[in-house]
Amino acid sequence: MKKILILNGSSRRNGYTSALVDAFAEGARTGGNEVKEHFIHGMKANYCLGCDMCMKTQKGCVQKTDDMKIIYQDLIWADVIVFASLEYWGTFTAELKTVVDRMFGWITMDTNQGVKKDIALLMTARGNDYTMPLDQYHIYTKYIGWNDLGTVLGRGKEAEARLLGESIK
Ligand SMILES: Cc1cc2nc3c(=O)[nH]c(=O)nc-3n(C[C@H](O)[C@H](O)[C@H](O)COP(=O)(O)O)c2cc1C
Repeated sequence: MKKILILNGSSRRNGYTSALVDAFAEGARTGGNEVKEHFIHGMKANYCLGCDMCMKTQKGCVQKTDDMKIIYQDLIWADVIVFASLEYWGTFTAELKTVVDRMFGWITMDTNQGVKKDIALLMTARGNDYTMPLDQYHIYTKYIGWNDLGTVLGRGKEAEARLLGESIK
């Protein structure tokens, strides 16, 4: 059984991306896993300040009061992190990007360096070109060094998302 954290960067809880999220979560729970989802649009996540204090102190982000404190706790809790986003101008939504930027404060902590997690991506777009967000996803996974479990790309691919969820053991 794995603990799975879904970071849903869509602004629509009943949209195409959330349909992939729901199918993935259902599959994962059927497979015996524990799943938590954060719908970022409904949370308060400040932008990264770019102050580099997380790198200097290795004690985490200087911003302590927004909802990232919940996400930081759940990053520790989870074995698997799932990024879910629609495509905005060829990339992730600002909601997800903001959380990914702030994750820098987490991966640079002395207690988290070298910690390995699994990661997956669920994404929808109006068109079929996922080249840029996939490149970006691969930059993240390579930089963080986490194990890529796979991607589901496209509206209506709930069956594929459910199978990816079920495949997690
Ligand atoms: C501001 C904005 C930018 C978008 N940029 C793209 C894009 O670059 N490529 C694309 O194929 N679709 C683009 N779309 C369409 C959405 O990605 C697509 O409708 C998505 O499936 C909606 O997901 P949701 O139902 O989770 O909101 C854009 C939509 C908006 C509102």
